[in-house]
Amino acid sequence: MCGIIGYIGPKEAKDILLDALELLEYRGYDSAGIALNSGFENPIEVLKCAGRVSDLRKRCEGDKGKGNCGIGHTRWATHGGVCDENAHPHQFGNVTVVHNGIIENYKELMEHYHLAGDLTSQTDTEVAAAVLNHFYQGDPYAAIRKTVLKLKGTFALVIMFEDRPGTIYAVRNVSPIVATCCEEGCMLASDVTALCRFTNSYFVVPEFHVLEMNESGLKLYDMSGEEAIPQYMTVDWDVSRADKGGYPFYMEKEIMEQPDAIRRTIEGRIVNGIPDFSVDGVPDEIFTECERVIVVACGTAMHAGLVGQALIQSKLRMHVDVEYASEFMYADPVVDDKTLVIAISQSGETIDTLEALKYAKKQGARSLSIINVRGASIARESDYVLYTLAGPEIAVASTKAYTTQLAVLYLMVARMAYLRGTMSIEEIHEFVGELARVPKVMESVLSRRQDIHKFARAILNAKDAFMIGRGLDYSILLEGSLKLKEISYIHTEAYASGELKHGTIALITENTPVIAVVTQKKLHDKEMSNIREVKSRGASVTLFIKESYFSQEGEQDWSGIFTLPDMLDEFMVMPASVALQLLAYYVSMDKGLDVDKPRNLAKVVTVE
Ligand code: M6R
Repeated sequence: MCGIIGYIGPKEAKDILLDALELLEYRGYDSAGIALNSGFENPIEVLKCAGRVSDLRKRCEGDKGKGNCGIGHTRWATHGGVCDENAHPHQFGNVTVVHNGIIENYKELMEHYHLAGDLTSQTDTEVAAAVLNHFYQGDPYAAIRKTVLKLKGTFALVIMFEDRPGTIYAVRNVSPIVATCCEEGCMLASDVTALCRFTNSYFVVPEFHVLEMNESGLKLYDMSGEEAIPQYMTVDWDVSRADKGGYPFYMEKEIMEQPDAIRRTIEGRIVNGIPDFSVDGVPDEIFTECERVIVVACGTAMHAGLVGQALIQSKLRMHVDVEYASEFMYADPVVDDKTLVIAISQSGETIDTLEALKYAKKQGARSLSIINVRGASIARESDYVLYTLAGPEIAVASTKAYTTQLAVLYLMVARMAYLRGTMSIEEIHEFVGELARVPKVMESVLSRRQDIHKFARAILNAKDAFMIGRGLDYSILLEGSLKLKEISYIHTEAYASGELKHGTIALITENTPVIAVVTQKKLHDKEMSNIREVKSRGASVTLFIKESYFSQEGEQDWSGIFTLPDMLDEFMVMPASVALQLLAYYVSMDKGLDVDKPRNLAKVVTVE
């Protein structure tokens, strides 16, 4: 969370910083700020305010602040409310700082260094600035080294010292910083989205290394003062794919991109009708030598894991646990060297997932991650990686990342079944053929999106809604409900519909909106009975049903009905997810909300 940028080069820093902050805003958007360093003759100037980067731009209008060196920040609040004082950058004495992460021992540091009366904000960051200032005696390296030894928690700190104009320092633990030096100057940022307008070449600042950037370039040192060589990598997505492409919101663009994203993700990974991960360098032993699988992930990625679980259990008859990454290690999980831990994450930076993965590895597990952002922390920590080729996902609500995660899971299940002999070659060909059909099927749902838009109007003013289904339909609805909640602010519960009668049905009254998904043959009759149960209590039901399971002669009193193109039952999650994404999108848009940046959220969650 929080977006960080730093720039030194021939251009006007203010413009570069503001543009970069706009690109990084999806990491947090409670407040924004920049600090400009224009040489010895002027003190470092800080411009900051609560609100969006657009508010900061207005705040900067007319300000003469010039200079070719500066740092910037877009905040997701952790310590202290959303107000101007708590916005970054923070200044203390000689030190100006921006920070991403959490300094867990900030209270102890405050007491130890008697800072209480001198601080102007409620943030942990200002405490870090004060500690840096305490240790600063003219040697930035010594001050940074001594400070990081005192800090507990995660941090990406970017620092300027008043008496070192034109120089930016950075250091990190867990929270990411990437950097580059190119024709336009030297830059660092929380992620490559902010750099790839200028270059496709960047490196990840290693943990507990000090980065120094000035006009003559950048240098990297380890904590003992030894120079380290940056390991440059190439970013594999084109920045034009990170704009809205004519759509009003990134989310709509990203929903529409799914057929191509799926094509990219599966193409090159199927050889003679069998999934093959040679291009990814993933050895078969990882799939044959494990006795059980644990998936660790958060939010949408965890919902993808639930679909993976159902598939592995049914196609491989293997035990799979899916765990919220944030709960995993605290439940004393049983993990050994026969466990394959699969970490799923769009950003590859979710700290709970990263920590869960590290924990499982320490217990001896082998690891594989499914990641969208190349070179991200979780990818680097895993033994092997399968990248989803969704391209940049900017909207906070995850869409194409989820369906490409599913695509990788389908490929993985078929590869495992092939290697372990639990499916015949014919069955695998049929399964893989069905996966290849997903893009076309999604296109057909997308072409009827205006029908879904009509249903959105029916729930626009609802305070609560229920989503009901069983088996894989329930997994789909968990994701659909998260989507609706996070961007429309309608309280939505996904419910295993067989469970309703054990309590929750008490909440169904006249016109309660209920969204039902019915796509699984073995559950069809039971799901329809559960739907009748809520209808007879007055619920107003919108039904998403597999086309061939819909009988025209049946009930007519639906609030809305959408038929999902036929696929094998285990693939119905694909068209159903697209339909539910569209529903959430239209509700949010019609409510006039900021679809891409829902309140209180951030795209990348790097605090525990
Ligand atoms: O980057 P990750 O996939 O690890 O992120 C995990 C969750 O934070 C994320 O999926 C979140 O739930 C989405 N906002 C949901 O749309």
